[in-house]
Amino acid sequence: NRSIISISDLDGEDINEVFSRADKMLENIESGKKINVMSSKILATLFYEPSTRTRLSFESAMERLGGSVISMADSKTSSTSKGETLADTIRIVESYSDLIVIRHPLEGAAFLASRFSSKPIINAGDGSGEHPTQTLIDLYTIRKEFGSIDGKTITIIGDLKYGRTVHSLLSALSRYNVTVNLVSPENLAIPKHVYNDVKGRLNMNISTDITKYLGETDILYVTRIQKERFTDKNEYARLIGSYKITVSDVNKLKKGAIIMHPLPRVDEISSEVDNTPAARYFKQAYYGVPVRMAIISMIAGE
Ligand code: CP
Repeated sequence: NRSIISISDLDGEDINEVFSRADKMLENIESGKKINVMSSKILATLFYEPSTRTRLSFESAMERLGGSVISMADSKTSSTSKGETLADTIRIVESYSDLIVIRHPLEGAAFLASRFSSKPIINAGDGSGEHPTQTLIDLYTIRKEFGSIDGKTITIIGDLKYGRTVHSLLSALSRYNVTVNLVSPENLAIPKHVYNDVKGRLNMNISTDITKYLGETDILYVTRIQKERFTDKNEYARLIGSYKITVSDVNKLKKGAIIMHPLPRVDEISSEVDNTPAARYFKQAYYGVPVRMAIISMIAGE
């Protein structure tokens, strides 16, 4: 089967294939044309953690492809609450469906699921590990906005320690000719294993201060502090509010720059920024459906 556990499960050709399929899917959505490449197929969404965009856009994508969806959106109402293991849950759900999308609080859970399933597994976020399909949406957005990814300067600010979208994005960006500036409070710096994985292949700068990078930035990628990952709630309380992008920061960005965010946001982008021409985070979320239609059709379509 063709699972997507990590962004590194896809090579450059696969990523380009996602882009070209997503272009077609977007055209079909916008023209109202029906595509039936998943008719008679069932997608299962297993979400052991909250989600708005990922679960609903996968479900919308499957419906738009003519397929059906079964969903476990809350582990409290499933037999997980009675003590059923992830392995047993997967053994059952794979027999009810053709493709499984899973989000879980533990890093490695999607990989574990793939060991117990003969059907493809898509990692929709495993703890602080990875969120590969978000990265495909991020890359697709950059490509739509600029025509290409090569040559861009991407400044990533926020929770680089726990932020799984950043971990997958960095890995993907290391395949392109880009400059990446990593900005975070010291306690939320990029983990060593993620840094070591990309350091030879990526032109990277690291700082706690964003101001020096604003003028050279084509894409400002902002992330939320991942409250749910903190074992010490006092530490979270100390860090919340330690950075916030305002209109004054937006005005210092390179001409034509855009601001992205995987969402949800808390307070790291001021709401006034939404009305600036640089804001792209809602457009980015809009691309979730065509990109996920592309992914589903690629790995499980007729
Ligand atoms: N970007 C993202 O994964 O959003 P959700 O947590 O709402 O799915």
